[in-house]
Amino acid sequence: MKTIAVLTSGGDAPGMNAAIRAVVRMAIFKGIRVMGVQRGYSGLINGEIFDMDRHSVSDIIHRGGTILRTARCEEFKTEAGRKKAVNVLRVFGIDGLVVIGGDGSFAGAQLLSDLGIATVGIPGTIDNDLPYSEYSIGFDTALNTVLDAINKIRDTSSSHERISVVEVMGRNCGDIALYAGIGGGAEEVIIPEKGYEIDSLCKTIFEGKLRGKMHNLILLAEGVGGANELAKQVEEITGIESRATILGHIQRGGSPSAFDRMLASKMGVAAVQVLIEGRSGRVIGMKNGKIVDEDINEALEIPRKFNEELYEISKILSY
Ligand code: ADP
Ligand code: F6P
Repeated sequence: MKTIAVLTSGGDAPGMNAAIRAVVRMAIFKGIRVMGVQRGYSGLINGEIFDMDRHSVSDIIHRGGTILRTARCEEFKTEAGRKKAVNVLRVFGIDGLVVIGGDGSFAGAQLLSDLGIATVGIPGTIDNDLPYSEYSIGFDTALNTVLDAINKIRDTSSSHERISVVEVMGRNCGDIALYAGIGGGAEEVIIPEKGYEIDSLCKTIFEGKLRGKMHNLILLAEGVGGANELAKQVEEITGIESRATILGHIQRGGSPSAFDRMLASKMGVAAVQVLIEGRSGRVIGMKNGKIVDEDINEALEIPRKFNEELYEISKILSY
């Protein structure tokens, strides 16, 4: 392995920069030339590739976003697009590629591996929706951002004795809502894995009021529905004033937490090591708190096992 490249793809996540830094520094430490690809697979197809040295990644470990930029690229989903990308990699003399992204980006990395480019993926997504890994880079930071926001919403919500419906990200995976619901003491957590029933939700709110609850904080994952609609519906049925807050892209930015910086640093080093060992089509993950690597296809086939125990805890503690 003489030359490797690194790219970020799909939705950005805090800690991606720390991962880029780890990849670049580990490669240099091992005497490997390292290049950065801008704008994900789109930059690969268009040859937006440049040499990186240790200073290219100075002063970025604490920054959100990605210095390499990111993109979603439809052309790469076609065979012709991927062939262009392989030709570009050959022109630049790149033998190995580190892809930082989510499951879509990993599917792309596997296809590149099939075309003879050594690839390895690092999980970077705030959704934490990659079942093969306990954590993905960015999830912990996003969670802390949500907690900070709901602490503030709770203050005004209890002053006015209102219901607050807070919509967080998570299309198919409710981890942000569930973890923030437990950590932030929400009364209700509504997630795609479980859904909800409006009558039973309102009954719980009425019962809580009888027990003396001053306010109700409902955490809603975006994949289930919109906060505005739900707040309106709940207000109509319960007669209790309700407000909606959509946290949106605030969850994707910000300085990465200590946990995400550590995770990104360890995963970046592990990814380069995999390439040095001549392995391809692998993804780095965390299992039982340890950094591991796994075959991409096998990793992507692992079904998501919903954490019923955590959901139960959220119910017990909100009673
Ligand atoms: P994420 O990696 O966060 O899941 P996306 O699903 O948007 O994000 O994927 C990011 C990019 O990865 C896509 O824009 C596309 O370029 C590439 N990609 C996604 N799915 C595939 C696929 N099945 N085959 C090839 N490339 C893919
Ligand atoms: O996958 C990460 C994520 O933040 C999802 O939670 C959210 O649904 C989506 O990306 C939003 O993507 P966009 O960047 O297109 O707004």
